[in-house]
Amino acid sequence: MLHPEATASVLGNAHMPPSSNLATQAARVPRHVAIIMDGNGRWAKKRGLSRSDGHRAGAESVRAVTRTARKLGIEALTLYAFSEQNWARPQAEVQGLFTLLVDFLTSERQELHKQHIRLVALGNLARLPLPARLALQAVIADTRHHRGMTLALCLSYGGREDLVQAARALAEQVKAGTLEPAAIDERAMANALWTSQVGCDPDLVIRTSGEQRVSNFLLWDAAYAEFVFAACDWPEFGEPQFQAAVTEFSRRQRRFGAV
Ligand code: IPE
Ligand code: IPE
Ligand code: MG
Repeated sequence: MLHPEATASVLGNAHMPPSSNLATQAARVPRHVAIIMDGNGRWAKKRGLSRSDGHRAGAESVRAVTRTARKLGIEALTLYAFSEQNWARPQAEVQGLFTLLVDFLTSERQELHKQHIRLVALGNLARLPLPARLALQAVIADTRHHRGMTLALCLSYGGREDLVQAARALAEQVKAGTLEPAAIDERAMANALWTSQVGCDPDLVIRTSGEQRVSNFLLWDAAYAEFVFAACDWPEFGEPQFQAAVTEFSRRQRRFGAV
C-alpha cells in the first residue's frame, strides 16, 4: 500500500506542478496501467459534501492522470469508471455519473486530439443512457486513428460479464461452424473480450481509497499484473500519486511463474 507518510512529498498534494523527472522514468514505465478509481463518496463525506460533488472532483483526477500517463509514455490507460454492479446505486447518483461522463467527453474532445489519444469504451454499452452512448460514439470515431495512447473507459463493465460475453461469442462461432472447439486457446479467448480493444494486458493495476480488492475488474487480463494500493481517495490522486505508483512498479520484480 502506498501510504501518505511513506511518500510524503508526492502524496501530499494532488495538484503540484509537474516534476522534472518524467523523462528519466520513461525506461521503466509500464505499457498499460489500469485504475480502479475508488473513494469519491468517502472523499465527499469527509468534507460534508454530496456524493455527486465527490464524483465531480474525481473527474478532475481523470484529467490529471490521463495527462500524466501520456507524458510518461504509457501506451494504454484503462479506467474503471462504472461497474455492472454500480447499476445498483440510487438512480440519481447513476444519472449524475453519466451526465459527468458526457461533460467530460465534451470538454476533453479537443485535448484528446491534441494529445493523440485514442478513446475506446469497454463494457455492456447498450445499457448506457442514450446521450452517453452518442457522446462516446462521436469521440471514439473521432479519435480512432490516434496512436499516442489508448484511453479505455470501462462503463457498465465487469470482468465476469466480459468472460461470459466472450464465451457466448465463441460458442456462436462454433455453432456456425467457423470455429473448432479445439481451436479455442488463450489468444482466441483474449480476442473475444471487450478488452481486446486495448491490445495488451495491464502491467500495473492501481486501486485508490485503501480498499484492497479487485471488485470484478479485468479478471482475465490482470493474471500477471502488479497491484499498487494507494491510501488516498480518487479525488486526491493526481500526477505525483500516479508517478509514485509507477515508481513502485519499477521496483517490482516480475517473474511470470518462472524463476
Ligand atoms: C468510485 O467512488 C466511483 C464509482 C464507483 C463510480 P465510489 O462512488 O465508489 O466512492 P466510495 O467508495 O463510496 O467512497
Ligand atoms: C469499483 O468500485 C468500481 C469502480 C471503481 C467503477 P466500487 O466502489 O463499486 O467497489 P466495491 O463496492 O467497493 O467493491
Ligand atoms: Mg467505492
